[in-house]
Amino acid sequence: MPVRFVSVQLGRRSYLIKIGPSLLPALGSDGARLKLGERCAIITDKNAGKHFAKTVFDSLVRAGFSPLLITVAAGETAKSLRTVENCYNQLAAHRLERKSFIVALGGGVVGDLAGFVAATYLRGLPFIQVPTTLLAQVDSSVGGKTGVNLRAGKNLVGAFYQPRLVLCDLNTLKTLPDREFRAGLAEVIKYGIIFDSSLFEKLERDLPKILKRDEKVLAPVIARCCEIKAEVVSQDETESGLRSILNFGHTIGHAIENSYGYGKFLHGEAISIGQVAAAKLSEKILGLPRENVIRIENLFRRCFLPVRCKLGASQQKKLFDAMRLDKKTMDGEIRFVLARQIGKVEFGQRVPAEAIETCLEQLEGSTC
Ligand code: GLY
Repeated sequence: MPVRFVSVQLGRRSYLIKIGPSLLPALGSDGARLKLGERCAIITDKNAGKHFAKTVFDSLVRAGFSPLLITVAAGETAKSLRTVENCYNQLAAHRLERKSFIVALGGGVVGDLAGFVAATYLRGLPFIQVPTTLLAQVDSSVGGKTGVNLRAGKNLVGAFYQPRLVLCDLNTLKTLPDREFRAGLAEVIKYGIIFDSSLFEKLERDLPKILKRDEKVLAPVIARCCEIKAEVVSQDETESGLRSILNFGHTIGHAIENSYGYGKFLHGEAISIGQVAAAKLSEKILGLPRENVIRIENLFRRCFLPVRCKLGASQQKKLFDAMRLDKKTMDGEIRFVLARQIGKVEFGQRVPAEAIETCLEQLEGSTC
């Protein structure tokens, strides 16, 4: 299986995404090529750490680095300022310096948290993203969004801070629980909807093989998602316009995560519901053909992802409040990314409150 490379073009801060099998044992030599300082820290969580920390640690030692292993709790609750402070204290005790670096080893939570620690400790240390979930490989590890949650909302504290390298080792997906793998597919489908109708068609066609994690099919799909993300981020790093298309389905999705409490839905599951809701709004506002709404909903269903959730009246209000707090609001108004066709979306769309209300009412139903 060939190793694929995707480049994120950001001038002097450009970097490569490397996609292939068995990349972890060579992480140390990749770090050496980047000419980073001797001391480093691997930030991981209990799940990823159990499977991969030793391989990464040994690889760094073999390449002459002096790594510290920091293991945080698994799950969204670890994405907190309290965990950040705890990491800072351990970095200080290990005497990390300006040229030292951080390795973010895990899924989206670890990548966002470790990236934020890297962005802020000593006003910024280099860091390497080593995403070990499908969702992190195709989305969160690429593009430099780092941050943590507040009780008031998801990712409300953070920084745009680009990694020096992203290593997507396909072998790490083998140990991923089915639920996590399917949640990652929600972001994969998103790229088809927002940017590439032939990717969407490929997913419709090859889904059985993808669900079996057939690497021959999966590797080019992951690479294509990374290419799309790289292209979008290169054009609009700090989300002043185009980058917001990556938030398709996220306005409602984030609000669902927030109002249900982190932990009930995985991020990918919440944005599966959010994308189906956004497709329905798209039909109403931009005339997305009904058959495309059905194709979108069917593809999520075929991935065993939820496309509805139960909402009582108080939960609907909570969801509305959470949407208003989302970073995607502008002048206090909620803006949506909506699809005109599969493969073509428009950002910054105003949606009348009644249309959002109807859409939330339609969310009601069984959770799968
Ligand atoms: N996950 C959306 C973005 O990186 O902009």
